[in-house]
Amino acid sequence: MVIAVDGPTASGKGTLARRLAAHFGFAYLDTGSLYRAAALRLLRAGGDGADTDAAVAAAQGIGPDDLADPALREEATGNMASRVAALQPVRDALFALQRDFAACPPAGLPGAVLDGRDIGTVVCPDARVKLFVTADVAARARRRHLELTGQGQEVAYETVLRDLKDRDARDSARATAPLARADDAVLIDTTKLDIEAAFSAALEACASRMDGS
Ligand code: DC
Repeated sequence: MVIAVDGPTASGKGTLARRLAAHFGFAYLDTGSLYRAAALRLLRAGGDGADTDAAVAAAQGIGPDDLADPALREEATGNMASRVAALQPVRDALFALQRDFAACPPAGLPGAVLDGRDIGTVVCPDARVKLFVTADVAARARRRHLELTGQGQEVAYETVLRDLKDRDARDSARATAPLARADDAVLIDTTKLDIEAAFSAALEACASRMDGS
């Protein structure tokens, strides 16, 4: 059983996906963290997003141990992640890990929740449940700004908003596996929903798809 959760940055998809995994006792994979891990390796090696070979080398061999570094969450890492994620060979290098996780969740768990941009469209097109979580860009920027300032980072709201718009444009306009809602994904717009209301909507969507077996 696979639950695919896609959507733009700061839509709340990660929180929802994590809660769904805990609720159903499924394994959870934040696929954005794979692209972030590749980006972080590249940044630390002094590379830049225009060097495809260096980006692919950074993506190869990414594993669970690379996903716990706090620097993965930094804005610079996220911005580089969105650049390397536009490179098809980088996506290819990270594909098997994601497919294997979905097909054979770790620890013998009965299902997996994967969140990202292309889970319902490319990585797991046959997922039983597909959710597309979104919110308007101002709401997402407000949330991300609160999160960053809450962590003690000094950053202006306008900067966060501009970065989000840039990242949305890159993630949606790229030629390879762009952010897109699968035809059969249930849309959850969290602009006006708090986390509990969004979670209820997600559970309802899961129940209707899981019952439809
Ligand atoms: O969800 P996130 O912000 O952690 O993702 C970081 C970047 O990785 C994001 O800009 C788009 C990219 N990404 C992707 O292209 N495909 C995925 N399945 C997950 C993330």
